[in-house]
Amino acid sequence: MKLTKTILATGVAFSALATATFAHAEPTAEVLHWWTSGGEAKAVSALKEDFEAKGGKWVDSPVAGGAGDAAMTVLRSRVLSGDAPAAVQLKGPAIQEWAEQGALADLNDVAAAEGWNDVLPAAIQTIMQYEGDYVAVPVNIHRVDWIWANPEVLAKVDVTEVPGTWEEFNSLADKLKAAGITPLAHGGQPWQDATIFETVVLGVGGPEFYQQTMIDLDEDALKSDTMKAVFDQMRKMRGYVDADFSGRDWNLATAMVMNGDAAMQIMGDWAKGEFMAAGKVPGKDFICAPTPSENGYLFNTDSFAMFEVSGDDKVAGQKLLAELIVGEKFQETFNLLKGSIPARLGVPMTNFDDCAIKSESDLKSAEEAGGFLPSMAHGMALRGHLAGAIIDVVTAHFNSDMSSDEAVIRLVEAVELAKD
Ligand code: GAL
Repeated sequence: MKLTKTILATGVAFSALATATFAHAEPTAEVLHWWTSGGEAKAVSALKEDFEAKGGKWVDSPVAGGAGDAAMTVLRSRVLSGDAPAAVQLKGPAIQEWAEQGALADLNDVAAAEGWNDVLPAAIQTIMQYEGDYVAVPVNIHRVDWIWANPEVLAKVDVTEVPGTWEEFNSLADKLKAAGITPLAHGGQPWQDATIFETVVLGVGGPEFYQQTMIDLDEDALKSDTMKAVFDQMRKMRGYVDADFSGRDWNLATAMVMNGDAAMQIMGDWAKGEFMAAGKVPGKDFICAPTPSENGYLFNTDSFAMFEVSGDDKVAGQKLLAELIVGEKFQETFNLLKGSIPARLGVPMTNFDDCAIKSESDLKSAEEAGGFLPSMAHGMALRGHLAGAIIDVVTAHFNSDMSSDEAVIRLVEAVELAKD
């Protein structure tokens, strides 16, 4: 009896101590991300500042490289060596892959306290959960299928609007080329080739074809004449980039449009973050319009997953970060800088520009029409090895004189191999 009491008393003392330690632990988070360009860095600084203002200690781990390929390599080696960062920029099916490995911590208590089930769209909730547990938090909704254009450059060939069909796109690009202007600013990196490719898949084939090929990996659709037409259009696109495109970072391609060295760029709306960071005004210094997209919308939601870490300070840091990220004020501040729109429902759009307003209204109409689709190029539609199989073929085609017939054969083969 006495012994039991002692044990109980010790237990109480221990848990009181744990609570006290937890309460006093300085919330600390090492954050692994790839936001290093001008606009991206401004946006991530907003998160850091908020976190620090709430007493958090931010340990910055940026890994440069658009779309995060390099960051994901670093992540794998960190986890393998038993040294996972607390918070990692991670998206789409990759969240499920890491959760299956048992690498992610659950955030259910923060989710319940903050009412995430009521403030996040159902589709986004699903991406953030593994077997019903919240393991990640969304920061935004980026749209991928955009054209960013310099109106002054378009004016040189007497054009005031961004083309609405791929035929119009080609005739404008031919006109620009004839006038000695680079039609398309592009960086030859696989993910950038894939970004253009998926907008062409959507535009040439329509939303249903995108669903069949980029999500369902339907063999008949992958080897169809429509897919050949997609590669034909990609061959045209290759003719519209400048000679130095190879390896160029995406933000340098954005700068070409900004500086009048090229007319247009096809890129997600993180490109808008670059224009804004450089003080450019939408509708005046640059224009935004969806790529010819048949009323579809390719979305790309950035999110942070919390990895299993030990230490009260780190766990407290993860919870604080998660709470802040989904918060209404943060969703506004961050997305104004990043070029995206809030992932949280009900954030007022009053301070957002016309590109963001268009993104929001197109999202709603695409959702109603079944055209709200996850980006393949940005890791939202497929697991890494499957997306990688497609992207390899797209890049091999873009950087050679491969015919569309051959590209389609290779695409089917690569996807079949990756599926096994
Ligand atoms: C995307 C990411 C965006 C942007 C872009 C370029 O994959 O979702 O937030 O950073 O890469 O790095």
